[in-house]
Amino acid sequence: MKKNPLIPFALIAVFGIGLMFLLGFVGLGNMDEMANKGEEAPETAAASPEEVVKSTCAACHGQDLAGQGNAPALKGVGDHLSVEEIQDVITNGRGAMPAGLVKDPAQVQEIANWLVEQK
Ligand code: HEC
Repeated sequence: MKKNPLIPFALIAVFGIGLMFLLGFVGLGNMDEMANKGEEAPETAAASPEEVVKSTCAACHGQDLAGQGNAPALKGVGDHLSVEEIQDVITNGRGAMPAGLVKDPAQVQEIANWLVEQK
């Protein structure tokens, strides 16, 4: 029987197309994996108390914590409030200050600890 000279090329073509599909599916699998990894990652590496205060509290209490409008200065707040009282204000709000600005209790505590140190 005479060999068809095109057979090697046909084999290479079949092999190549097969490889393409294979890599394509492997790639799809990896894509799912990567996408899921992104979702599982924690939202942010815990921001420092100072960063949270600057981004969340400063709009009312002033960038330099000096207070503005009806929001009192946070500088020196440790002179008349304890860490526990500050935690309570952050968690439950008070007067015109909304409750629940910071949800994570551990972070509330960190912020309170940081704030009493601000003179
Ligand atoms: C929407 C504006 C607003 C934001 C945002 C806000 N506060 Fe306040 N905060 C106030 C007001 C107004 C008061 C005064 C409440 C009152 O009348 O008793 C206050 C009071 C306080 C007090 C008590 C001060 C004192 O001398 O008794 C602390 C402590 C405090 N805020 C901390 C924070 C922290 C920490 C954040 C950020 C997580 C924050 N606040 C965000 C408006 C705000």
